[in-house]
Amino acid sequence: PSTLPLKGLNVLVTAGPTQESLDPVRYLTNHSTGKMGYAIAEKARDMGAAVTLVSGPTALEAPEGVDTVRVTSAQDMFDAVSARFENADITIMAAAVGDFRAENIHPQKIKKQGRDTLELKLVSNPDILAWAGSHKRDGVIAGSDDPRPQVLCGFAMETEHLVEHAEQKLSEKHCDMLVANNLNDRGAGFATDTNVVTVLTPGAAPEPLTLMGKADLASLILGRLAVIHANKLAE
Ligand code: C5P
Repeated sequence: PSTLPLKGLNVLVTAGPTQESLDPVRYLTNHSTGKMGYAIAEKARDMGAAVTLVSGPTALEAPEGVDTVRVTSAQDMFDAVSARFENADITIMAAAVGDFRAENIHPQKIKKQGRDTLELKLVSNPDILAWAGSHKRDGVIAGSDDPRPQVLCGFAMETEHLVEHAEQKLSEKHCDMLVANNLNDRGAGFATDTNVVTVLTPGAAPEPLTLMGKADLASLILGRLAVIHANKLAE
């Protein structure tokens, strides 16, 4: 096998949290640091791919040699990804996208005076992974202007019923691979340099992996996605 297994391929990665404004000074977000997605973007670059990283707000530096697009909200991330998806051969969505945003962003700072409680009405954000799954080119399209097959990988972070929930996401969002981690496992989840995951692919038994560094996990994921892509090309 070539030492640059992703040479000639465009890889699109999402990473980090999103921020959903409530007013000019406040926002809703989550604990994602972006480490897993950045590790994937760097490894894909090292494996020879042309990499685009769509990143929510993180403390991480933009990786050298990676086209990094910084976004804030889930809607921004959707816009950035949907504009680039068609060009991607392999897409990996590691971002922790906020599921909800405020229905109305208050134009002025929300004041506490006179209030004992505050109700916020939230509305759901677009699901970027589900959108990509429903727009994906699955195989080589004979005679098409754009015959390149696309491979899609999602992540799932769960606190219970890990495999069940992950299986459901794999099929509902039309992914070729889903990487599931349980937030309660030691060494898994946010802000760590390691992860403990189970890899799911359609039609195969879920494969639990042992604790590994995020860089090693990135290599493993990308190696497998490269094989899935090659198989689609050969079909
Ligand atoms: O359904 P759930 O949010 O748990 O799915 C997680 C996967 O979906 C991750 O790959 C995440 O990046 C992606 N996702 C997304 N857009 C959303 C919500 C999740 O791309 N609005």
